[in-house]
Amino acid sequence: MTTEQSPTLDNLLTESRSFPPSPEFAAAANATADWYTEADADREAFWAKQAERLHWDTKWTQVLDWSNAPFAKWFVGGKLNVAYNCVDRHVEAGHGDQVAIHWVGEPGDTRDITYAQLKDEVSKAANGLLSLGVTAGDRVAIQLQMIPEAIVSMLACARIGALHSVVFGGFSPSALRQRVDDADAKVVITSDGQYRRGKAAPMKANVDEALDGAQSVEKVIVVRRTGDDLEGDVPWSDGRDIWWHELIDAQSADHKPEAFDSEHPLYILYTSGTTGKPKGILHTSGGYLTQAAYTHNAVFDHKPGQDVYWCTADIGWVTGHSYIVYGPLANRATQVVYEGTPNTPHEGRHWEIIQKYKVSIYYTAPTLIRTFMKWGAEIPAKYDLSSLRLLGSVGEPINPEAWMWFRENIGGGNCPIVDTWWQTETGAIMISPLPGVTHAKPGSAQRPLPGVSAKVVDDTATEVGNGGGGYLVLDKPWPSMLRGIWGDDERFKDTYWSRFAEQGFYFAGDGAKYDNDGDIWLLGRVDDVMNVSGHRISTTEVESALVSHPTVAEAAVVGASDPTTGQGIVAFVILRGDAAKAGDEAIQELRNHVAKEIGPIAKPRQIMVVPELPKTRSGKIMRRLLRDVAENREVGDVTTLADSTVMDQISKGLSSGSDD
Ligand code: PRX
Repeated sequence: MTTEQSPTLDNLLTESRSFPPSPEFAAAANATADWYTEADADREAFWAKQAERLHWDTKWTQVLDWSNAPFAKWFVGGKLNVAYNCVDRHVEAGHGDQVAIHWVGEPGDTRDITYAQLKDEVSKAANGLLSLGVTAGDRVAIQLQMIPEAIVSMLACARIGALHSVVFGGFSPSALRQRVDDADAKVVITSDGQYRRGKAAPMKANVDEALDGAQSVEKVIVVRRTGDDLEGDVPWSDGRDIWWHELIDAQSADHKPEAFDSEHPLYILYTSGTTGKPKGILHTSGGYLTQAAYTHNAVFDHKPGQDVYWCTADIGWVTGHSYIVYGPLANRATQVVYEGTPNTPHEGRHWEIIQKYKVSIYYTAPTLIRTFMKWGAEIPAKYDLSSLRLLGSVGEPINPEAWMWFRENIGGGNCPIVDTWWQTETGAIMISPLPGVTHAKPGSAQRPLPGVSAKVVDDTATEVGNGGGGYLVLDKPWPSMLRGIWGDDERFKDTYWSRFAEQGFYFAGDGAKYDNDGDIWLLGRVDDVMNVSGHRISTTEVESALVSHPTVAEAAVVGASDPTTGQGIVAFVILRGDAAKAGDEAIQELRNHVAKEIGPIAKPRQIMVVPELPKTRSGKIMRRLLRDVAENREVGDVTTLADSTVMDQISKGLSSGSDD
């Protein structure tokens, strides 16, 4: 497995720096060391106490029902409304005037939205959806950039019990279509266009391309964002399309939220697996909200009414769901939401925003931290970042150098850093330091949170000892765990529960190791999933996109380590007869083809034309050998190849590459 070959392993073994929280931070921390003891003594009682932080219309009768594993039920018999918990109850408690969202548009326009205003907006949007015939259990697809309407739409769905399926704004029409069809979405919410790097780019036009002939879609709601800045008309389908402002502004701001069962589905979010088809990860209400709120409180040490919180994720990913929408709003956060890219109009944009709003908690991704490093420490040094008191990282292993840079240059050398490990499937943070307790080590996610259980095991499911590496498993159910893959129970069982079926462990797909203190270090995926800038992309998905091009006969894709994006996509292709001598232009076209099929995030960094691919006798592509080539290493053991000369042919025949 990859842990044995990881070039980072040696570095990790010698990493011995450790940073305790300051006494002041520790003294005021939300979560204290006794939480571990309390949760260990009685896990279910611990989670019940966390669930009590929410408002339940009907209390549960049983904390956990695991009798039908791996299909969990948490807070059985309980009823609540997720949107009420995130919005209304704060208004009712007298916090209506507190700002929920400081929104910053890319062109510089801003909006401050209080909890009272958010309640009105969400209620109107809920009434709007109801007026279109959307009812509890229906699916609503949302493809929107980071504008307040995105959050309002998600909460409006939650309020009426409809499931949202948010599709990242950068996904191509065919990726959107696949997700709309899989979930049978009845309504799609999008915008006319989006600002990206100072320009207005069409959005609705792509959605229309995606929805051509889509059977399930009855209505498309369109937020007017770019308006006249967008060139050309917004394509319109009369009878199907409706402007957000025309629909929503006419609605009443009164809407009585209904209480739904704790296990009522809340959303579907698609993520890449090892096969081509994305998996619709299903999350439900009570357990999910409990853990999203608990972790946001414990890991970020969030103090409502005092902190200004900023999570830089996009709502198209799970981080945006759990740590922009549900966790922070359930905890009455005041947060920054930023529409644009970090270097528009200049490379200090994030620091300018932190300075302006006095952001105190900043949660971002290693790929962005490495980009900031490249841009230079002199950029953040120009801004007053002294409001920051806690930093967080998510999405991929953070290298110790990036961790130290983040600590020194952004955190002023005194902010705890929480390196949070979790997945779309886990719904919320699972492994992370507790900022007021843990002596943080650069690059380690360290320890399962109180209430969470994780282990590193070998092939035989035996836990490895300190200093040992293996597979990360979750050996006990947790409240925000996925409840399945939409429409495919078998795939759910196969993907996560078959590897260690006998023991009933959830197989996360990540390699990990314990250091000599028993702290956990994540080592990347052990399956065919790549992690590019913190985004999951499957090798199969990119391969399928490549072979859908008429010039490609066969393709194999690997993730090669990349100094900025974590991994970069490297493709090896065999071209069809007459295309076989293709030059740079044809390679460029292939890269663009993948971007068009899946989205720009899946564009290969490099495509190499080869005469053959290395395969075992049973025909399985040996990606390990291709990774050696992609990472400029000496090629490993080739004895199991059907044709042992293939690697020589590849090395000789490497004809072209591109690295823009
Ligand atoms: O490989 C792990 C990596 O991201 C994967 C989950 O990706 P996704 O479902 O898109 O969710 C990303 C945001 C939660 C994991 O299987 N990963 C995530 N966080 C970390 C990480 N790897 C190492 N350290 C982390 N803190």
